[in-house]
Amino acid sequence: MSALDPESRDCRVSLAVDGPSGAGKSSVARAVAKRLGYIYIDTGAMYRAVAYRALRAGLEVAAHEAAIGALAGELQFEFRPVGEEQHLFVDGEDVEGPIRTPEVGNLSSPVSAIPEVRRHLVAAQREMAAGGGVVMEGRDIGTVVLPGAEVKVFLTASEQERARRRQTQLTKRGVARSLEQILAEQRERDERDSTRAVAPLCQAADARLLVTDGMCKEAVVDLIAGWVREAEAGDRGEA
Ligand code: DC
Repeated sequence: MSALDPESRDCRVSLAVDGPSGAGKSSVARAVAKRLGYIYIDTGAMYRAVAYRALRAGLEVAAHEAAIGALAGELQFEFRPVGEEQHLFVDGEDVEGPIRTPEVGNLSSPVSAIPEVRRHLVAAQREMAAGGGVVMEGRDIGTVVLPGAEVKVFLTASEQERARRRQTQLTKRGVARSLEQILAEQRERDERDSTRAVAPLCQAADARLLVTDGMCKEAVVDLIAGWVREAEAGDRGEA
């Protein structure tokens, strides 16, 4: 059964995975979703896509905040399987390549601080999660988008560890970046994402904190998938 098969959603719970950039959220969330047959929703990709479309339209955050907000409301987002991967399509265009560049990544942080952008994207994300059976990953999932999620995880790692992981990821995509450069960009994004007025990055009161330094991905996935199975059993009255 495909992770995107709507039939696999019956009687399933929702899992919210939040944390700073480079904490390994994407690869862990994707693997947990695959293991459980859940739908994986990468909300960061949606903010990146708005940044990419704004850049393409020549809209700058400082001068065109309202226009970028309006643009976010016009876009149609859809996650579709492409081979073994899942890509984000915007208005039918596969944007997976362009949204992963460092330029778009850096721009997505100020774009995600625009309240109107968040309003539109949060509405779209709630719609995607309406049937349950989702692993939704981002910064404000447990606090704002799905405050009722049965399982919430705040995934993080030390600054150095996160920067090293980001560098490995970029190298795989053929992008050369020094560790110093990545650390500086990471600090800037963390600072902006944690201090912005709307939906800043913070751990939900009922989220489990998972610091992954020294843990292999499989161990993290096992742990989280176990928590979801416990919650599913609780939902069925087996607890
Ligand atoms: O997880 P990511 O690096 O792909 O996220 C891109 C940007 O979007 C990042 O600056 C944080 C922001 N973001 C957000 O504000 N809220 C989310 N739910 C997901 C991402």
